[in-house]
Amino acid sequence: MKIESTAKPAYRIVNRLAIDQVAERARLISGLRAPHATIEPKYFYDELGCALYAAICQLDEYYPTRTERAIFQSFRGEIAEAVGLGGTFVDMGAGDCCKALSWLPYLQPTRYLAVDIAGPTMETSLANMAPEFPEIDMVGLITDFSEQLELPAELVDGRTTLFYPGSSIGNFTPANAVKFLRQMRRYATNGLLIGVDAKKEKAKLDAAYADALGVTAAFNLNALRHINREIGSDFVESRFKHVGQYNEALGRIEMHLESLISQQVNIDGVARSFAAGERIHSENSYKYSQAEFEAMLREAGFTNVRAWTNPQQAFWVFWSS
Ligand code: AVJ
Repeated sequence: MKIESTAKPAYRIVNRLAIDQVAERARLISGLRAPHATIEPKYFYDELGCALYAAICQLDEYYPTRTERAIFQSFRGEIAEAVGLGGTFVDMGAGDCCKALSWLPYLQPTRYLAVDIAGPTMETSLANMAPEFPEIDMVGLITDFSEQLELPAELVDGRTTLFYPGSSIGNFTPANAVKFLRQMRRYATNGLLIGVDAKKEKAKLDAAYADALGVTAAFNLNALRHINREIGSDFVESRFKHVGQYNEALGRIEMHLESLISQQVNIDGVARSFAAGERIHSENSYKYSQAEFEAMLREAGFTNVRAWTNPQQAFWVFWSS
């Protein structure tokens, strides 16, 4: 018996990642060789890193994901009404697509566009989701938008909503966050639904980024393994330790990888020495007050701003158009 299917393909993937690999490698190497070594947070997200991030989201100490979810649940109807039905729903940094999944039945977009740098994790999630939403055009776009946001015009035609949950905007410096908001606004003809972590007591923030089980430590150290695969360096994770702490003056969590000993690491054929205690800066995660972030949205050109939070005001959800 021949089984014929006239149904649309479950989902499709557009890969725009390969475009600038030579430049990416050069940036990574120069960051590692700089006097104050830095790596970009995107190096956290190989397949293991995505799984570790999912584990972080389950930790008691890591409140942002759970708090954002609670806000979405409390104000589902109100938010859905502000966003409206149909159009294209763009999930920025979709990851495992979990956060968007809860919105699709309420917003009923004609297209769901998941955008992420981590192809394998996104593909698995889309494959699982697609059969549940036969009426939605399911598309995955594999790209790195941390420098420049470019969405293919044919995928964002018509009424478009951008969804940027989880406080990932915190990875940008405030000035770059405004630039990025401006870039998102170009595409967000309907509006932007964004989650932003709030400023709060240092103890709570420190715990969220240096958890007792050491999952965040593994997440941070795993970037070294990923980098070894990318550029053939020979970092040994056990020779570094995780540092994650709130810098109150700058309003940001800083994550670092601190060298436990004096050592040399081969980076693209050249030895780079690290003194004991020397750090590689691996992430900033900025925290904002409601007023601070609203001002940034307005600076980026959004004129209508609504905000929702939880009773402790630990996290903010903004709808801006
Ligand atoms: C994915 C950027 C939102 O900043 O809280 C979690 C990443 N780093 N624990 C964050 C992260 C350490 C996370 N974002």
